[in-house]
Amino acid sequence: MNRQEALKLVKKMVPQKNLVKHMLAAEAVMKELANKFGEDEEKWGLAGLLHDLDYAETFDKPDIHAVRTAEILTDYGLDSSIVNAIKAHNHKAEMNTRMAKALYVVDPLTGFIVACALMTPDKKLASVDTGFALRRFKEKAFAKGANRDQMKMCEEIGLSLEEFMEIGIKAMQEISGELEL
Ligand SMILES: [Fe+2]
Repeated sequence: MNRQEALKLVKKMVPQKNLVKHMLAAEAVMKELANKFGEDEEKWGLAGLLHDLDYAETFDKPDIHAVRTAEILTDYGLDSSIVNAIKAHNHKAEMNTRMAKALYVVDPLTGFIVACALMTPDKKLASVDTGFALRRFKEKAFAKGANRDQMKMCEEIGLSLEEFMEIGIKAMQEISGELEL
């Protein structure tokens, strides 16, 4: 499955516009991370883009979230390392690759950065910088849904929180048009 086919499938299966944006943001950050580590940008990008594919079916069945996606993508013949990373993001497979760990830490990051953008005077991603994001990170009441411990696991893929934020912000800024932010 190439990127174009993957996006087509996402648009067909995910009616929630904001969720599609989340998946595009995850794709962008995953690609930036792959680039940073000299890993396979295409694979890491697909993991980000496809990771919540089953949400319309599983939003009220968290136990099978990601499991359904894995079944669908396996039928499409997608590379098993991507399928495993997607399963692992909902603790349905072992998080035993750097790609899987990256997806796990990127998942809460995108929503956190969106929340940061909405806090700036012009509500734009362009106005978010790493210092701003790190200050918001320490505020427990801010973007409560974005799990700080999960994001902090970026250290397990060899990045400080600061580096991770910087990469995430840059990647999302590059697709700000698609994110309408
Ligand atoms: Fe997600």
